[in-house]
Amino acid sequence: MKLLVFLSLVVYTVSDTPVCNNGFSLVNSAKCLKLVTTPTKHRTAEANCASYGGTLVTIRNAIDNRAVSTFVGNIGLSFWIGVYCVTNDPTTCYFDDDLGTASAYNNFARGFPNTDLGGCVYSASSGSLAGQWISSECEDVEMAYVCEAPTTKTDSCAHNYNGYCYLTSHENATSPALPFTAAQDACRQNCGELVSIHSRRENNYVQNLYTNTNISAFLIGALTTAPLTPYWIDQSRWDYGHVNPRSGSTGSCFQMTTGTDGTWYQVDCKASQYFLCKRPAGTVCNSTPPPPVIVTPAPTNPSGCNSTSLFSSGTFTSPNYPSAYGVTWCVYKLTTLGAYRISLYFTDFYVYQYTFVNVYDSNGARLAQLTGTSLPSPYYSSSNTMTVSFSSTPGTPGYRGFNAKFLSF
Ligand SMILES: *[C@@H]1O[C@H](CO)[C@@H](O)[C@H](O)[C@H]1NC(C)=O
Ligand SMILES: *[C@@H]1O[C@H](CO)[C@@H](O)[C@H](O)[C@H]1NC(C)=O
Ligand SMILES: *[C@@H]1O[C@H](CO)[C@@H](O)[C@H](O)[C@H]1NC(C)=O
Repeated sequence: MKLLVFLSLVVYTVSDTPVCNNGFSLVNSAKCLKLVTTPTKHRTAEANCASYGGTLVTIRNAIDNRAVSTFVGNIGLSFWIGVYCVTNDPTTCYFDDDLGTASAYNNFARGFPNTDLGGCVYSASSGSLAGQWISSECEDVEMAYVCEAPTTKTDSCAHNYNGYCYLTSHENATSPALPFTAAQDACRQNCGELVSIHSRRENNYVQNLYTNTNISAFLIGALTTAPLTPYWIDQSRWDYGHVNPRSGSTGSCFQMTTGTDGTWYQVDCKASQYFLCKRPAGTVCNSTPPPPVIVTPAPTNPSGCNSTSLFSSGTFTSPNYPSAYGVTWCVYKLTTLGAYRISLYFTDFYVYQYTFVNVYDSNGARLAQLTGTSLPSPYYSSSNTMTVSFSSTPGTPGYRGFNAKFLSF
């Protein structure tokens, strides 16, 4: 796998100075930053940053901290930053870009983090606390914020992000919708491949390309064999996946939905679809890439009953699933990075009538009380946590419980 990554770097690398677009400024030759002074709730601020394929700014060392303070200047406003704390221990404060915790570097003010005040974090504006980090309630407070997006390379293409150009088929009048093989050919004629997606940030960016269109789904460059073993046709690593747990299994191709959670569904490769191509920014065409590599996804772990926190994405079930669950109760705390929300999908549901599964939103509001044997619809959190409880009465043998998956989006 290392070898393949190395090869694709050789093919794609160009020596070019980094640039920013969408009104972001280049800071320290490394980060693209944008200050928004309009007072905004945390979730809305995150969503706006995500629409640029970014997050709230992540501050990883003293140099970053100074650079961000200098960039923001003397506005006299506190601003949201991209870190979210699960507990008061900084090793549980996660940076929004999914690249580690605040244990190596943080600039919390004395006595912080303090999650009694909330899991979100802002940088104080003025006075003795200027530049220091303070915990806050996420949704009851409005604040300025700083977004951070990856740098890219100079290219005149319309959608330039993180070193790649994204070419949407609907903006190409010649052939807006094609079956998989023809779509891939069209991409190659444009020195690209059907898009491969490698992070939540990129997924957000790609999803946002379709915001003001009537397009509800488009083809991406993933293929699968049965059972589900997806891989990217551009032979890049399967290091991020957003396959909808209820994707079904008809078709070896995938489309991404542009609606709420941006998940991917299996589709028939022969169906004509809108599609999205991706090519390195600022590069010339190269020869046909080698055939795709099959990568096996990591196994998932069982139950998860009463675990402190199930992080980012995974599977959890009623105890002993798929065997009878007996008399028990469980709490499942689901958490993802501060920048994202959780989508919860039940993939199997078969509980006795006096057994209940409760689903609670981030703010504690109950989203559903479930029982019976019909498959519930998906649930979406309003922020980055969700809690599910399971309480059972003596069940009739044969009631196997539930199987659920959650994703962040
Ligand atoms: C549009 O599609 C055609 C045929 O697939 C291709 O030759 C052309 O380069 C595409 N143009 C753009 C701007 O993507
Ligand atoms: C979207 O709108 C365009 C132009 O109005 C139309 O040609 C196209 O068929 C529509 N696509 C879908 C999926 O509704
Ligand atoms: C989960 O925790 C609760 C409360 O601590 C306990 O009563 C219950 O038995 C636990 N469930 C399991 C399956 O261990």
